[in-house]
Amino acid sequence: MRGLPNSIQARDVEYVLHPVTNARKHEEIGPIVIDRGEGIYVYDDQGNRYLEALAGLWSVAVGFGEKRLVEAAARQMAKLPYYHTFSHKTNEPSVLLAERLVRMTPDRLKRAFFTNSGSEANDSVIKMVWYYNNARGLHQKKKFISRTNAYHGITLASGSLTGLPANQRDFDLPFVPVRHVTCPHHYRFAEPGESEEAFADRLAAELEAVILEEGPETVAAFIGEPLMGAGGVLPPPATYWDKIQAVCRKYDVLIVADEVINGFGRLGTMFACDYYGIDPDIMVLSKQITSSYQPLAAVMISQELYDGIADNSRKIGTFGHGFTASGHPVPAAVALENLDIIEEKNLVENARRVGEVMQVELRKLAGHPLVGEVRGVGLIAAVELVADKATKAKFDPVGKVGAHVFSRAHGNGLIIRAIGDVIAFCPPLIINEEQVHDMVKRFKLTLDETAQELLNRDVASM
Ligand SMILES: Cc1ncc(COP(=O)(O)O)c(C=O)c1O
Repeated sequence: MRGLPNSIQARDVEYVLHPVTNARKHEEIGPIVIDRGEGIYVYDDQGNRYLEALAGLWSVAVGFGEKRLVEAAARQMAKLPYYHTFSHKTNEPSVLLAERLVRMTPDRLKRAFFTNSGSEANDSVIKMVWYYNNARGLHQKKKFISRTNAYHGITLASGSLTGLPANQRDFDLPFVPVRHVTCPHHYRFAEPGESEEAFADRLAAELEAVILEEGPETVAAFIGEPLMGAGGVLPPPATYWDKIQAVCRKYDVLIVADEVINGFGRLGTMFACDYYGIDPDIMVLSKQITSSYQPLAAVMISQELYDGIADNSRKIGTFGHGFTASGHPVPAAVALENLDIIEEKNLVENARRVGEVMQVELRKLAGHPLVGEVRGVGLIAAVELVADKATKAKFDPVGKVGAHVFSRAHGNGLIIRAIGDVIAFCPPLIINEEQVHDMVKRFKLTLDETAQELLNRDVASM
């Protein structure tokens, strides 16, 4: 284990249960203590610098050490450090943020509801949709449709929408009524020779068949990340969203766009809904909304949903849902400043322009012996590592090589994310071309070292 007795490392191992971590392995190897950050870099407590190629958890849009956000939080804390928004109270920053989000998001979306996290936001989506359908007298219309490999959070309800085995296994999930349809990833799930359009046709037909099998009167909503993130950075096949939306509209199935990773410029457009032409009834936002300097998420809803909820709240006396921190003024003030920075520095355009360079540079690795597919849009991408390029065969066991690349990258001054054997990239939106070249160089070095090691070691021993 790294670190001396009584060091932060040792005390971490002694006292902390880490999220999304193999706890016993953690006891053996201990943590890397991240101490400070600046721009696209973070530094550990030994002074080592890492290029943060995942922007923390896909979220630090404006980079680390942005003083304007620190000052915005300090100003708000000095004036009003906290107040709630229950029972007819409000505060200025949360109102200004709601107004701004309504103006920025697609036209159909007219109101904002605030939570602390993306998971709570998706739990709120489920409750709002149920409440709305009860208000409409559609008491049976409660099921959600999600996709395998989807990530919508980790709480009981949002974790049920998630379609990743590691997040459900032994947690007795799913807990709410949900069907998971096929993941729209062409490389893995298309039939041999099937075009992207034909694959999209097949997935839309599958969705329709599932709705009919369940009974349209029981299916409330379809939820999807426009471009799937934590499941492996999976851009949908061409025409997918047009076809999926048409099926949903045919059966009065609400469309929920989970933009927790995609939103605020990641794909080179303000929202991925703009990129794919999605017109959702509900949009979920978080992460880059404050660059994760403060916890915050927002559920954006249509006028129809709002009216249904509002009428029902009058009928039964209240909309009995909300969090202590719903509309907390400090994260709201930080979000407003963060959105100013995104606009003033043209970070959406930067994501498009520098993102193109990142996509081109990463695709140059497509010929590497370990690489099966390189994919992505704007400043989000993934490199899928395979045992056999021709057959697309995965490594056995899956995840060992990815984990090895992840650890090795630290030695090359790079933080990436391994999702099984898929390596994800999602750097801060402030990254420039030169830094992208540096990032890809460090990654290529890591890949080459790993390929070399694989000549002398079997995968299981990695
Ligand atoms: C698309 C998506 N939805 C929801 C969530 C859950 O957000 P949180 O971790 O803030 O609960 C995430 C987190 O990564 C996400 O990527």
